[in-house]
Amino acid sequence: MRILGVETSCDETAAAIIEEGTKILSNVVASSSKIHSETGGIIPERAARAQVETIIPVIEMAILDAAKSLGQNIRRGLANKWAKQNIDAVAVTAGPGLIGSLLVGVETSKALACVWKKPIIPVVHTLAHVYANWLTGIQPPKLPAIVLTVSGGHSDLLLMRNHGDFELLGGTRDDTAGEAFDKTARFLGLSYPGGPAIQKAASLGNPNRIKLPRPLINSGDFDLSFSGLKTAVIRAGEQKKIRNVDLAAATQSAICDVLVSKTLRAIRKFNVRSVLLAGGVAANQQLRDSLEKKAPVPTRTPPIDLCTDNGAFIASYAFFNYQPTSWRKIRAESDTHSLIKKYGNNKNKS
Ligand code: KG4
Ligand code: ZN
Repeated sequence: MRILGVETSCDETAAAIIEEGTKILSNVVASSSKIHSETGGIIPERAARAQVETIIPVIEMAILDAAKSLGQNIRRGLANKWAKQNIDAVAVTAGPGLIGSLLVGVETSKALACVWKKPIIPVVHTLAHVYANWLTGIQPPKLPAIVLTVSGGHSDLLLMRNHGDFELLGGTRDDTAGEAFDKTARFLGLSYPGGPAIQKAASLGNPNRIKLPRPLINSGDFDLSFSGLKTAVIRAGEQKKIRNVDLAAATQSAICDVLVSKTLRAIRKFNVRSVLLAGGVAANQQLRDSLEKKAPVPTRTPPIDLCTDNGAFIASYAFFNYQPTSWRKIRAESDTHSLIKKYGNNKNKS
């Protein structure tokens, strides 16, 4: 089974063709993050416009690359015909995300599925991120697992009992971990996206020069909150003579401490067999190292290029949670709870 996965929830326009949910035949990602680095954050309309401009070339390239992987060098003009003959289904992110961006992927995928007469699977981006761990070419992770999905759009702790059996244990009450990195970076005058910039600056700083809060670390549940941390960083930066690199290091440590502490709590409570990192923030080295060191079960982290948004994990999710839906019923939307209920195929309690 070959699935074309399409992802346009934010500032990446991505398409990939995946075989049997695990083998990457192609994986093309175009990012408009350069445009957003000029403004220090994403302006939704600009992101959506970039999606419109790139979606067709990106899908076309994913098709040509997949054909190449299978030893067939085809001309661009034959991409459509090849896809019709060689792809079994189309999977697309239905949400959550920026609605203008989502619409581009959803409506394009619907059109392709209709023209190619293929099934279409709507995918909940938040749940799909973890499938980057099924694309690594090594043994699949052991289930049940605790999943920590941390990105610019979401910070969620999930219990994954099996494919199609996710329980949302907790999530952020305000800013996501990615936003905490991005907003702090903006305050420190670092580039967008903030995560890699903070990580780089932090490597030159001392995390102990200033004590930042660890929001909700002892709250006894699995909820997260990062907006207070951002405010504390801004206050510290304004009041004290502290180097930006030290502030970056302290911010990174505060975010990682909270995430690791909550994840360890979930591992202990649910007695799982592994812990899986997902989402753009999973690219953070301190988070990876700290979790690997402290977790009592094996930690799985995808390679960095699969952590950030791509079509590969969308297609992999669709393979392991195969639920074709009439295109008429698929709508782009941004409310996670409603999406999980509609398309998530899970036993979410919240
Ligand atoms: O998964 P992703 O590409 O898009 C969303 O679904 O949001 O995640 C993007 C987020 C951004 O907030 C970015 O700053 C963060 O992931 N990120 C990192 C690192 N690389 C990307 N955060 C911390 N450390 C990193 N190395
Ligand atoms: Zn994402």
